[in-house]
Amino acid sequence: MNTLLTNIFPTASEIPSNHSIGDAIEQREYLIDGELRIWKGNLSPVLSPVYIRNGDKLEQKIIGYTPLLNSDEALLALDAAVKAYDLGKGVWPTMSVTDRIVHIEKFLVKMKERRTEVVNLLMWEIGKPLKDSEKEFDRTYDAIVDTIKALKDLDRSSAKLVEEQGFMAQIRRVPLGVALCMGPFNYPLNETFSTLIPALIMGNTVVFKPAKYGVLLIRPLLEAFRDSFPTGVINIIYGRGRETVGALMETGRIDVFAFIGTNKGANDLKRLHPKPHRLKSILGLDAKNPAIVLPDADLDNAVAECISGSLSFNGQRCTALKILFVHEDVLKEFTAKFQEAIKKLKIGMPWDAGVNITPLPEPDKVNYLKGLVDDAIANGAKVINENGGESLNSFFYPALLYPVNSKMRIYFEEQFGPIVPIVPFSDDQQAIDYVVNSNFGQQVSIFGKDSARVAKLMDAFVNQVGRINLNAQCQRGPDTFPFNGRKDSAEGTLSIPDALRVFSIRTLVATKSTDANKQIISDIIRNRESAFLSTDYIL
Ligand code: G3H
Repeated sequence: MNTLLTNIFPTASEIPSNHSIGDAIEQREYLIDGELRIWKGNLSPVLSPVYIRNGDKLEQKIIGYTPLLNSDEALLALDAAVKAYDLGKGVWPTMSVTDRIVHIEKFLVKMKERRTEVVNLLMWEIGKPLKDSEKEFDRTYDAIVDTIKALKDLDRSSAKLVEEQGFMAQIRRVPLGVALCMGPFNYPLNETFSTLIPALIMGNTVVFKPAKYGVLLIRPLLEAFRDSFPTGVINIIYGRGRETVGALMETGRIDVFAFIGTNKGANDLKRLHPKPHRLKSILGLDAKNPAIVLPDADLDNAVAECISGSLSFNGQRCTALKILFVHEDVLKEFTAKFQEAIKKLKIGMPWDAGVNITPLPEPDKVNYLKGLVDDAIANGAKVINENGGESLNSFFYPALLYPVNSKMRIYFEEQFGPIVPIVPFSDDQQAIDYVVNSNFGQQVSIFGKDSARVAKLMDAFVNQVGRINLNAQCQRGPDTFPFNGRKDSAEGTLSIPDALRVFSIRTLVATKSTDANKQIISDIIRNRESAFLSTDYIL
């Protein structure tokens, strides 16, 4: 075994006491109809990507157990959400925006109190470095604060009547119904909440099923959810996807499907809905974002951005750079700098100060990555960085693969892990063709200075992807920017203001602007006779 990785995993005594996890957490609670119920059935073990060294042996740490609910329980959660929505007549969908905001603010206060536990679980469950785990929590908190602000702005602009072609109307956004929210394992808090909170704040009721990994970290928030919202507004279930959410979709009672994961997973669930025309979907799916490094690029910047773009959180970001097209004129220099930069990345456990590369949470991931590397080697590529592709149990050292071509799986497949494939090119059309012919269409990065050449590439990509990054890695943030994708990469656009729109529909009250009608409208407003037709302005 390579000595670099021999001691990568800690002994029990090497784990800092402030980050230790203690005994396995046996979670039996789940939230239905405002009640934390206790599951008496089977549990699913939660295995940490962190192994513990015990003499010569490496033992995978079991950090807890979560309830393996069945379809009956999932359907009870749906019943609760349907009852709380009550065909749009429920307390929550008819509540004023001001009052709904009070509930969300209450949740925020309680959520903040659990920061330390959630951050620790993020590290232990998915191997996310401490700093990134803290960032995920804080970014989520800030996004909720900004969502409240955005909703106030939206509501203020609706607090007026519009006059058009002899009509007067008031147009407001109202909820869609019952939402099913499911997030991904790589951002189990942030991405999940990026749909869950807007769905709630717009007046929908929700069934939420946490991601496949990153499940236990929701547990510290269960009471906060229970205590902050009216009964049945938010229901949280656990278990195997097919058995639980599959059963929900088959009922046809899900109105909104918010899912971040693979396009295959989304398709499998969507097609279970008996009335697809009644299902609104908001999907964040697969991606294979390329970077294109032109001959005049600032190579130090390009390398720094591509390192962070391809390897932060071990490449497990949907926005990660997953293939690098590097112009032949700068290949030698770029790859030399890139190899040096990989060497500087710190490997270790999530709590190690300044760590960059950590163990991977998906059980068979290392074998999958090895398969991609072997296939690339069999088709003419080499791993060109020292220790590249070395592995030990759940740990995989970043592999820089060169030269990569279209005969290799890595050219097309989303690795979602620490492999960086480099494709040499001499003609920009090669990079354009890659993007145009790709099944994915999330983002692209261009590194270069020649404005005419950069502009030509930009224009070639505007109808292919959702965002073109110039001299910067692909990324979602700032969270107020639109985040979407084309083809197999997404359905719908998210951002703090966009999410409020996708989880709602505009409804209007309109009348001909006659004196008699004006009088009625004026009476309704002055006497506060309608919750909808009102010019109240949120301060
Ligand atoms: O995994 C996909 C995330 O939405 C990416 O967000 O670019 O901020 O890491 P990020």
